Amino acid sequence: MVTAKDKPELAHPEPAKKTQRPVAQKPRESCGMVLMGASGDLAHRKIIPALYNLELDGLLPESFFVVGYSRTAFTDEAFRETLRKSVGENSRRKPLDADVWARFATRLHYVAGAYDKPEAFEALGEVLRRLEKENETMGNRMFYLATPPTLFAPILEELARSKLVVRSRVAPWSRVVIEKPFGHDLQSALDLNKLVHRTCDETQVYRIDHYLGKETVQNILALRFGNAIFEPLWNRQHIDSVQITVAEAIGIEGRGGYYDEAGALRDIIQNHMLQLLALTAMEPPGAFDADSVRSEKFKVLRAVQPMPESDVGKLTVRGQYGVGKPDQDGKSGPAYRTEHGVEPGSTTPTFVALKLFVENWRWAGVPFYLRTGKRLARRVSEIAIHFQSIPHPLFRSDDSDGEKPNVLSVRIQPDEGIQLRFAVKVPGEAMQLRDETLDFSYSKAFGGEPPEAYERLILDVMHGDATLFPREDEVTASWRIVEPMLKAWQRSPQVHPYDSGSWGPEESDTLLARDGRTWRKL
Ligand code: BG6
Repeated sequence: MVTAKDKPELAHPEPAKKTQRPVAQKPRESCGMVLMGASGDLAHRKIIPALYNLELDGLLPESFFVVGYSRTAFTDEAFRETLRKSVGENSRRKPLDADVWARFATRLHYVAGAYDKPEAFEALGEVLRRLEKENETMGNRMFYLATPPTLFAPILEELARSKLVVRSRVAPWSRVVIEKPFGHDLQSALDLNKLVHRTCDETQVYRIDHYLGKETVQNILALRFGNAIFEPLWNRQHIDSVQITVAEAIGIEGRGGYYDEAGALRDIIQNHMLQLLALTAMEPPGAFDADSVRSEKFKVLRAVQPMPESDVGKLTVRGQYGVGKPDQDGKSGPAYRTEHGVEPGSTTPTFVALKLFVENWRWAGVPFYLRTGKRLARRVSEIAIHFQSIPHPLFRSDDSDGEKPNVLSVRIQPDEGIQLRFAVKVPGEAMQLRDETLDFSYSKAFGGEPPEAYERLILDVMHGDATLFPREDEVTASWRIVEPMLKAWQRSPQVHPYDSGSWGPEESDTLLARDGRTWRKL
């Protein structure tokens, strides 16, 4: 008889069956959410559709309710009805699921009131306490400030005065979510931070930068710190330069009043793009938690030396879109200066390109080129790492277009993915090289489209995880970087016109050409 002991060992034992482990889910704590600015565009286009999608995926806590708050009068019923329409139009998943909506709608309530009147906040407090009791949310509260920034200060003051938010690090928690723009310049950001801290502790504050909620932006960290092969090359010894692009095909979409005051530098670079730069350039954090990650990002932002005002003209380019070429139907969009809410002689840049340096051991001498603009040729956002050229061109021949430096690009949107450009031999007798790409596509690997950034970020606030929210010092450091540009541009407010549907003004190409480089063709 052959016993188990006598059994010869298999040379190639069967692989253990893979058990499908559920994706780790953090505990979902019961809470109530007060949405300030509930009748506004952001609430209707992003926040409520995100909550509905969380409901659809069963990710909302069982005990959870929303109180919409704004100046417009609505009954609960009328409020639900307007939201049903907006969610139908703006949810990433269509059509609206009637059963899920019915369940979700029972969570929605509404209070109308002013943003600076104590009696209005008293009334809000009463409704909030009643709903907390009915829903057994144990006093956990999220206040989401989705209003125009001029209202942040009165709201914060009223929240503190009415004690709807109390400074505390223990349960029950109150958390305050603040939308961008966080300040208009360095001084106003410092003032706003002071005000926030008069109302609550830094651990209670969640400053939204929705780029950090994008799956592909988080993937920068996975790529860099979840793989062994990239990090040894991720420095000035191997990298020639970095290009970060956030290009939009849309114009200002009826937001003239806000945009004409802000411009591309405040709207995109100070927040989204400097965060992308920080994630690309940061050192590996000691742990993947809010303070470790944010401290490393902060160090990068501190290492970007603000350019002297006298160099701003050399290191930056401003553009503003004109009408552009007509499309197949002979139509072209409006020039920026004729958009609703824009001053006819406005010099607000809708396009900015610039060069920065991260002055530390890892990055000394490596230029970071950033460009962003509205009404550009297409919507595409990516980070491209340009590696150095090979030291000696072994295969040079007239018909070879290979041997170009390798480029690793992280495509944030659309067609989320990662590409590596490298040289291969063209089949045949000659040693001819050509560029090809290794191509990883998110949708091919995982199917479907990733969740919206707001879904992820709202869940993180409920979990009390601030990793993906810029900390006070990061915001201040980012304003320090852009401040000299704002000042220099105020003194000399010219913008280069560019055609809608182009890649911005020619001067943007010149910025790189002066360094012997070109923008990637996207
Ligand atoms: C916002 C800006 O923060 O980001 C908008 O205010 C811009 O002007 C938008 O259009 C771009 O976000 P996304 O997710 O479409 O790239």
